[in-house]
Amino acid sequence: MKLRFLLSMVMCGAIFSKVTFKETGYSYDDVLLVPQYSAVASRSDVSLRVKLTKSIEIETPFVSSNMDSVTESDMAISLAQAGGIGIVHRFNSIQDQVLIIKKVKRYKNSIVQQPICIDFDASLREAKKLMQKNGITSLLIVDVEKKLTGIVTQRDIPSCEDENKKISFFMTPFNNLITGNQDTTLDEAKKILSEHKIEKLPLINSEQEVIGLITKKDILNHKTYPKASVDSRGRFLVGAAIGTKSDALERARFLLEADVDVLVIDIAHGHSEQTIATLKALKAEFPEAQVIAGNVATAEGTRDLIEAGADAVKVGIGPGSICTTRIITGCGYPQISAIMECAQEADKYGIPVIADGGIKVSGDIVKAFGAGASTVMLGSLLAGTDESPGMPFLKNGKKYKVIRGMASFGANLSRNEKTTDKNNVEKYVPEGVEALVSYKGDVATIIEQLVGGIKSGMSYCGVKKLKHFRGNGIFVPMTSSGLRESRVHDVSELS
Ligand code: XMP
Repeated sequence: MKLRFLLSMVMCGAIFSKVTFKETGYSYDDVLLVPQYSAVASRSDVSLRVKLTKSIEIETPFVSSNMDSVTESDMAISLAQAGGIGIVHRFNSIQDQVLIIKKVKRYKNSIVQQPICIDFDASLREAKKLMQKNGITSLLIVDVEKKLTGIVTQRDIPSCEDENKKISFFMTPFNNLITGNQDTTLDEAKKILSEHKIEKLPLINSEQEVIGLITKKDILNHKTYPKASVDSRGRFLVGAAIGTKSDALERARFLLEADVDVLVIDIAHGHSEQTIATLKALKAEFPEAQVIAGNVATAEGTRDLIEAGADAVKVGIGPGSICTTRIITGCGYPQISAIMECAQEADKYGIPVIADGGIKVSGDIVKAFGAGASTVMLGSLLAGTDESPGMPFLKNGKKYKVIRGMASFGANLSRNEKTTDKNNVEKYVPEGVEALVSYKGDVATIIEQLVGGIKSGMSYCGVKKLKHFRGNGIFVPMTSSGLRESRVHDVSELS
């Protein structure tokens, strides 16, 4: 057996073969886009609408990283409002990940689409638990036929009450409730809420079943988002990551039942037997699901994933801000060259490519598009915002948040703590680090800045549509003095 294996290795050139050197690989800082004649008069003439997957298009080509310090519900909602999409990480239980997806799908421009309801017969204890779990302050109460029978808010519940009492004991009953229906507009709701001095307006259909909830708080915060990424029912688009381990298909099923719009098979080395097997199994079981697969860095990897059914391919081996894969393993591929190689292959199949990792500034994103990417996945650029999970903290008078590589020691430790399998923690070889990122305020402002930079970059390249620019950049490699010249130099910055 061993002999046959060695023989086959020799035959396919894996042993005693000549060392291969590919051409020089370039990364973001190694190249510049050559300016072209431009007829773009204003940034507003530039369209960034592009394919995320084979059948999903978005207005803003940003995807937030499926990292536990980057994407949960707040990030996914803000990304979707801005026209991008968030990919919820998988480093939690299936139930927790599904709850996040449901929260995003319920949230739509001030109308909660599927408000949390509780049975008429439930206890106060169960109600408190449900509110805490979902981070909400009220519950709609429904009977066995799912008809609305009342509403209870935290204010209706005395603090030292017997928790075995039924929640219906504390509710405002249906007969005293003001309700709206499917035709109630936000303006009408605003009027009703202020006339009746109430904070919640349940929406019901003709059968008295709950179809939504409008709250005073959401109306006060209401803004319109003309570029928002929405599904056919007007709900925000959201994606979720799955792995390749035994729970992958089960996780996928629950996520799809919660109406997730896209699944991401999230594996460090996507050009692998296990990724391809998971992808094929997913596509066989859920043929309608849009699946992004990765990460790869070569044409062969891209082709193999597409032939196994990928609807988009994620490119990037080791370029990320928190990655140590290239240092630990010696493997990787400079990102601009990886994007070019993968996008050229993916284009043969009409499949878009997502450039994942290593993006520091808007100029890098323009370069990624010029090289062939349709969208970019952002980690550290979004990690220090209000919407990333975790609280900011002060260090030497400056505000920071934490970002951690999903293959870092800390991330692995948390995973093992959750599964109580602590045996292998010490033997773990991390391929990522935990780090601080400067606190940056809200995501909307960051996205606005990035979009402005990209549109400006595209006007330097003389193109109005990302769809046309993608893969058509003309690049010039840079020397180290070119790079020095590109940055602020020979002056002291004021801040
Ligand atoms: P940026 O540069 O946007 O990169 O912060 C985010 C991407 O980095 C990848 N990632 C990792 N790569 N070890 C790695 O080698 C890790 O621990 C790790 N965690 C995340 C991932 O592709 C992400 O989108």
